[in-house]
Amino acid sequence: MRNNIVHIGAGELTYEIRAIVEIAEELERLGIKTNMENIGDPVAKGEKIPLWIKEIVSDLAMKDCSYGYCATKGVLETRQFLADLTNQRGGAQLTAEDIIFFNGLGDAIQKVYGFLKREARVIGPSPTYSTHSSAEGAHSGQKPVTYRLDPDNHWYPDMDDLRQSVKYNPAISGILIINPDNPTGAVYPERVLKEIISICREFDLFLICDEIYHNICYNSMVTRPISDLIGDLPAIAMKGISKEVPWPGARCGWIEVYNAEKK
Ligand SMILES: Cc1ncc(COP(=O)(O)O)c(C=O)c1O
Repeated sequence: MRNNIVHIGAGELTYEIRAIVEIAEELERLGIKTNMENIGDPVAKGEKIPLWIKEIVSDLAMKDCSYGYCATKGVLETRQFLADLTNQRGGAQLTAEDIIFFNGLGDAIQKVYGFLKREARVIGPSPTYSTHSSAEGAHSGQKPVTYRLDPDNHWYPDMDDLRQSVKYNPAISGILIINPDNPTGAVYPERVLKEIISICREFDLFLICDEIYHNICYNSMVTRPISDLIGDLPAIAMKGISKEVPWPGARCGWIEVYNAEKK
């Protein structure tokens, strides 16, 4: 071709789970029973959609206005509702303008990393939900930068590893946490969140917190939304309805941007 059209980070756009699916499908073809847990779809696993949602959706399906464009950042009333929910908690405050809707949180993840300067790296957990790591790797054209989650300490972040990695890699501009975590299921106590926030402060980083599982904690585990704890730290919370409503087919996720004026 006249020009090389392949994005510099295309090689990082891998999705390890796909490889496992191929093996599972091969096993199925061979008649071996497999339990497919790969897609994380609660509906496929038998979770029920609340009746009130079905009623609203079926009513809206009959209205022409449901088929038009909506506001680019998402419906204003919905964004205002979400901003009020966060603001009522008394932590970081935001306006409807600080909330942006996407076609599912997966889409938000691609866009957030995709719009970062190539040299600006976001260090993320390992093991991780690979949509984050592949999007981060693809935007930078290099292997994702990671910190270790410690299997011998409830799968909490290995703080020494995180701190050293940040300290010795000046390209790192942000830290990603997934809380509650996928794939480990860890639920971070306030102390762990505060420690990560203090590393962000020390090295002048921003924070991304994927909170898609926030309202799904088992065994009386509790955690805090990051907006409760960040103060004036620039941060993004990533949220969605795929897991907790559950409605993954809605392709509905959003980001809340805190302290945007801090750049
Ligand atoms: C941690 C995490 N973030 C984001 C997503 C993507 O969610 P969505 O269905 O909104 O794209 C998932 C889906 O499994 C997830 O586990």
